[in-house]
Amino acid sequence: MRMYDLIKKKRDGGELSAEEINFFIRGVTDGSIPDYQITALLMAIYYKGMNVRETCDLTYAVRDSGEKLDFSSVKGIRADKHSTGGVGDKTSLVVAPIVASYGVKVAKMSGRGLGHTGGTVDKLEAITGFRTTLSEEEFLAQVEKIGLAIVGQSKEFAPADKKLYALRDVTATVDSMPLIASSIMGKKLAADDDVIVLDVKTGSGSFMKSVEKSRELARLMVDIGKNAGKKMVALITNMDRPLGYAVGNSLEVIEAVDTLRGHGPEDLTQVCLALASRMLSLAGKGSAEECFALARRAIEEGTAFEKFKECVKAQGGDVSLLEHTGTFAKAKYSREVKSPAEGYIQSADTEAYGIASLLLGAGRNTAEDEIDYSAGILLRKKTGDFVKKGETLATLLTNSEKALAASEETLLKATVLGKEKPAEEPLIYGSVE
Ligand code: URA
Repeated sequence: MRMYDLIKKKRDGGELSAEEINFFIRGVTDGSIPDYQITALLMAIYYKGMNVRETCDLTYAVRDSGEKLDFSSVKGIRADKHSTGGVGDKTSLVVAPIVASYGVKVAKMSGRGLGHTGGTVDKLEAITGFRTTLSEEEFLAQVEKIGLAIVGQSKEFAPADKKLYALRDVTATVDSMPLIASSIMGKKLAADDDVIVLDVKTGSGSFMKSVEKSRELARLMVDIGKNAGKKMVALITNMDRPLGYAVGNSLEVIEAVDTLRGHGPEDLTQVCLALASRMLSLAGKGSAEECFALARRAIEEGTAFEKFKECVKAQGGDVSLLEHTGTFAKAKYSREVKSPAEGYIQSADTEAYGIASLLLGAGRNTAEDEIDYSAGILLRKKTGDFVKKGETLATLLTNSEKALAASEETLLKATVLGKEKPAEEPLIYGSVE
C-alpha cells in the first residue's frame, strides 16, 4: 500500500477502505509517513469529506492507536464531557467538579488550544504549580480517591490524534466534520467512560458555523458513541458570542471560580448547569430536571468549588489563587477598546475575538509558542448590548505592548454596530440524544 495512492484516491473523491485507513493511522503513529503526506491527505479529506463508514473506521483506528486506560481499580460510574471548541469556553472547569461532587467519577483528559479556540489544559496551567501530566498510576489513584482528575493527553493515549491535532492546527484543516468527529470520539472511546456528554458549539466562534452542520456533527458523534455502547447526549450550544466575559487563560480560571461560587455570568452558568445535569442524569442520579436542581445546589452549597480546590491541590496547584483570585499575576499592559460609534452590537465575529486574544499571547501561532497566561480580553459589552460612542467595548491585557494595536484592530473590525436591537438567539439550540 502506498500513501501516494490514498491521497490520490481521496483527492478524486474516492472512498477509503478500512485497511487503507488503518494503514494511514499506523503510519501516523509510528512516524513512517512524513508530515507532508499526512497533511496532503488531511486536506483531501477536508475537501472531499468522508462517509459515515469511513468516519467510524477512522475513529476506531485513532482509538486503537495507543494504550487504553485500565480503569478496573476505579469503582463507580465514569462520566466525561467534551466540547468541540469555542472562545471563552471554560465549562469543563465548572462542570467536572459539579459532577464529581455527587460521587460520579470524572477522569478528564483535555486538550490545549486549537486554532482560535482555547484549551482546558492551557487554562489549568495558569494556576501556578498545577501538573497537567500525571503518571497513569497517579491519575487513576486520584480519580479513585477524590473522584476528579484533569490531565493533558499522554503520549501513549490515542497518539495518532495528538499528531493529527497538531498538524491540523497549523494547516487550516481543523473544521472538517469527519476529522473533528474521529478526533473527539477516538479519544473518548479510548478513555472508556460510561457516560459522555458532548458540547457541540455552533456559530461564528466554533468550527461548525451553522446549527444544521453542528446538529449533523452531534448526530454523527452520538451514533459512534452509542455503537460502542456508551450513554451519550450532545447539546448544541451558542458560540456566536464568547461564553462569559473572559477570554484568556488566567482570566477564564477566575471567571470559572466566580461561577463555581455562584456569581458567574448567566450564559456560562446556564450552559454549565445544562451540561452537568445531563452528565448526572446519564450517570443515574435522576431525571434531567432533578439533576439540574442537583447541579445548582452543588454551586449554592459550595461543594463543587470545594471539589475543584481538592483537585487543584492534589495536582500541585496553588489553591490560594482560587481563594483570592486577585492574586493571579497581572499583565503589564492594558488597553481599553472604545466604541467608534453609538448603537447596538448587532454581531461579533467570535472567531476573530479568539484571534484577538491569541494575538495578545493567550494562544499559540506555532506549536512552539509559549503562552502568556495573564493575556486575554475582558469583554465589557456583548452582542445585543447598547454602547455609546467612546464607551469601552473590551479591555485588552498582555505582556507584549506591541501586540495591543493588532488585537484592537481585529476586535473592532469584528464588532458590527447598528440602530436596531438584534433578535435574541437561544443559548442552547437543542440536544441530540
Ligand atoms: N476537539 C478535539 O479534541 N478535536 C477536534 O478536532 C476539535 C475539538
